[in-house]
Amino acid sequence: VELEVVPSADGLTVPLDALAAAIDERTAIVATGHVSFTTGALTDLRGLSALCHERGALLLADAYQATGLLPTDVVADGVDAYVSGTLKWLFGGPGTAFAWVRPALHAVLTPTTTGWFSSARQFAFAVDELAFAPGGRRYELGTPSMPSAAIARGGLELVREIGVPRLGERTRDLGDLLIALADAAGLEVRAVRDAEGRGGIVAIAVAEPKPVVDALATEGIIVDYRPGIVRCSPAFYNTEDEVRLLVDRLATLL
Ligand SMILES: Cc1ncc(COP(=O)(O)O)c(C=O)c1O
Repeated sequence: VELEVVPSADGLTVPLDALAAAIDERTAIVATGHVSFTTGALTDLRGLSALCHERGALLLADAYQATGLLPTDVVADGVDAYVSGTLKWLFGGPGTAFAWVRPALHAVLTPTTTGWFSSARQFAFAVDELAFAPGGRRYELGTPSMPSAAIARGGLELVREIGVPRLGERTRDLGDLLIALADAAGLEVRAVRDAEGRGGIVAIAVAEPKPVVDALATEGIIVDYRPGIVRCSPAFYNTEDEVRLLVDRLATLL
């Protein structure tokens, strides 16, 4: 198996053209984020799946940074495998993850890691057979972490109550505000400007981000860092004033 990594020319996005140049009839699977975990840039899943299928490849989308924020129709978008979890924009904490695999692929994508939950006869305890459950259950593993699932329910209830479209709109409005304020403060914004092409992340370029993130944390401002950036993710429960405070403090620290 050969791994080909498609770099981002602008440091923000990986356009379809760049992916198209790397996908050929030898490509088995294209794995990408639905929303970039550094720049918040959105991947056009529908366009990418069309490209993949034209050339006989499958498309796997890691939607951790999208689920709960972007209404997504995996069937209409032509995704073959969609993996996500409750950690981010489902506000459900760590420990609960999930996957969807296009039903037509269940018969051909055989699990290489199994557990008793993936067995066709889970309670038969027949150690001399390896028969997978029909449907998506074949991709399950062992006993799920029930405390994690209980915690995740709280977030899911919130997301259901407010609704994904409203959550997405509010989050991107806060992102727009952050970008405008950061521009005005002379900070280097590393985000897609058009809210339609962005998830919930707005990154600010900072050569050494960790001390900045630590300093903000002492003031109760919780942001994250990745190499070369402070990663800001204002969520629906944040106020415009909190976004202003964040930018003010960043401008002072940088
Ligand atoms: C794109 C993406 N995928 C997956 C994860 C989570 O992976 P894990 O559950 O292995 O920590 C994250 C963040 O933690 C993420 O940003």
